[in-house]
Amino acid sequence: MALDLTIEKLVYGGEGLARVDGEVIFTPFVLPGELVQVAPPTSKKHAQRASLIGVTQPSGDRVEAPCPIFGECGGCHYQHIDYPAQLRFKRGILAETLKRGAKLEFDENRIQIVSGDPWGYRNRTQFHIENGKVGYRQMRGQKLVPAAQCPISSPKINEALAKLNRMAKDRRWPKFVSSLEVFTDEVQVQWNVQEATQPVAKHFFEWLAAEIPGTVPGALDYEVNGDVFSIAGNSFFQVNRSLIGCLSDLAMGDESGGEAWDLYAGAGLFSVPLARKFGKVTAVESGRAVDDLQRNTRRAGVEVEAVRQNSEAFLVEANAAPDFVLADPPRAGLGATAVARLLELAPRKLVIVACDPSTLARDLAGLKERYEVERLIMVDLFPQTFHIETIIGLVRRD
Ligand SMILES: C[S@@+](CC[C@H](N)C(=O)[O-])C[C@H]1O[C@@H](n2cnc3c(N)ncnc32)[C@H](O)[C@@H]1O
Repeated sequence: MALDLTIEKLVYGGEGLARVDGEVIFTPFVLPGELVQVAPPTSKKHAQRASLIGVTQPSGDRVEAPCPIFGECGGCHYQHIDYPAQLRFKRGILAETLKRGAKLEFDENRIQIVSGDPWGYRNRTQFHIENGKVGYRQMRGQKLVPAAQCPISSPKINEALAKLNRMAKDRRWPKFVSSLEVFTDEVQVQWNVQEATQPVAKHFFEWLAAEIPGTVPGALDYEVNGDVFSIAGNSFFQVNRSLIGCLSDLAMGDESGGEAWDLYAGAGLFSVPLARKFGKVTAVESGRAVDDLQRNTRRAGVEVEAVRQNSEAFLVEANAAPDFVLADPPRAGLGATAVARLLELAPRKLVIVACDPSTLARDLAGLKERYEVERLIMVDLFPQTFHIETIIGLVRRD
């Protein structure tokens, strides 16, 4: 028997929250205020998950999702929400997460929203291949959802997807390659094999290169704000092609001065512009991207000291901090060691670029002891999904 729910709000993670007899139920693909029918949850846990059967009273913010596999594919969570409303809801979720996790009261209306093209924005995507079919993994499951196209991916990725769909049915396709990532600047195309049970022969890449124009054998040169960043296979690079330059400008803000650190620096997207504004820049990166970073700073003609180390260990070893520190950690956030050390070293200004508001809130709960928020920007790097990117500028209180 179906259960009727009224959705109270959207929560971080993409689902809507409803309460029935004091129990919390989460449902995907809904909107606040909607009356929906769901399949009764089977688990007896306090917070239960229910799948959506139908929407009895739709919200005014509901739109028709353009993608035929929306709802099955694990990639998108918000295609049923009008884009301006997606931004509003995400800003609300960000404010609530910071309030709950960091006890940080920040007027939601003071959060600046920056957005770009809501469609065709991804420059990188990972495809799964099974039995001659190409697609994505289903939401909360491992099954393949075949995809003929992907509206959040760039035109070049869609061109590659069409070709891959044909190639995967060809007897030349190596059956042991089950996951392939594509990265592109719309001219060059880089392929990264993500899952294969055997080493992939050179002629597979030659076949890809013959079928998909622009395929490069190694690093891809990506231009951002007039600088060229060489990105080796599997190095991190920002995914939203319409907002990369803007993200870099916003992270930098108006800062300039003597010395700066760029922690979790990747291939140097922020280190290069920082080096033009500060006398000395130290960039810390633990992965192989540090080789890209060294190449990229040389190519830009700027001087950056590249340190191949964990940022936490770097902070523990440091004796004093410069005036300005920029940190762009992965989803796990800064963590307790880095936060404790930053509180001791106490740079005057600290900018955090965060891709998960809940770990950001946890870090801010510690940092607020010595810092106050100077600016808070939500950059919508991942339209149609629940993901939230935040730039937060902190200034030392003294
Ligand atoms: C979110 S990316 C940011 C990269 C860069 N700021 C950019 O925008 O292109 C995080 C980077 O931190 C690196 N990383 C992960 N854990 C790290 C750690 N503990 N210390 C230093 N770098 C780390 C990853 O390899 C990745 O390049």
